Amino acid sequence: MFKKLNKQKKKQSQQLNSEIDLHNIPEHVAIIMDGNGRWAKKRKLPRIKGHYQGMQTVKEITREASDLGIKYLTLYAFSTENWSRPKSEVNYIMNLPVNFLKTFLPELIEKNVKVETIGFMEHLPDSTLKAINKAIEETKDNTGLRLIFALNYGGRAEIVQSMKTIFDELSNEGLTSDSINEAMIEKHLMTHRYPDPELLIRTSGEQRISNFLIWQASYSEFIFNEKLWPDFDKEELINCIKIYQSRQRRFGGVIDS
Ligand code: FPP
Repeated sequence: MFKKLNKQKKKQSQQLNSEIDLHNIPEHVAIIMDGNGRWAKKRKLPRIKGHYQGMQTVKEITREASDLGIKYLTLYAFSTENWSRPKSEVNYIMNLPVNFLKTFLPELIEKNVKVETIGFMEHLPDSTLKAINKAIEETKDNTGLRLIFALNYGGRAEIVQSMKTIFDELSNEGLTSDSINEAMIEKHLMTHRYPDPELLIRTSGEQRISNFLIWQASYSEFIFNEKLWPDFDKEELINCIKIYQSRQRRFGGVIDS
């Protein structure tokens, strides 16, 4: 019975895969993983069970992103505003990277995935930092998918930090604000090593950006997916890419017909 179901699912996924244009895969996909709490509530489970299941989804989506040839996958795992949640929930989320990497790091290494982060990492607990730094170190020479966790990340705080550094640099060099341009601001953002995301997905049906990559998503295609994050799967990711491929990106210009 299960074997038959699995076979059916595999066939479905192969069919979906063949429906997307493999030459037009977005290079950078960013995801707001929303709906863990509601997933748990629907099942009368504590919210942390939703986060646990959300972590399993991170594994599936990382595998699929890597197989599809996506180059950068940025996942919003914890925002600068999430500290206001109950302490027990914050502690649980902070331990997720430890749990995730304990079970998944060998597969990430085998898949040539490079683990990276954006966010104010210095505020994370030592145990979280230790697990993440180990993963960063052990995958630093990998050349495949770059899996970027946004942890204690907030777009506004990122821009404030960038502006402060720019101000200091200009003052030290005796320069004025005339030297400030977009490239200079970008160079000082936490994402300076990455291209802007072409595709930004938010799960759970909520339609807002919640302080995620607010500078970088200026021209991203937004897809608001109805699934709660723990229910999001590779078929949904492929569907999002199909929708992305059906859109015309104009960047404020016009397309000749
Ligand atoms: C938002 O859903 C989710 C979070 C704030 C946590 C996201 C974390 C994961 C999905 C796991 C990350 C895994 C690793 C390895 C870091 P919510 O709790 O706001 O859901 P709700 O809106 O339904 O309450």
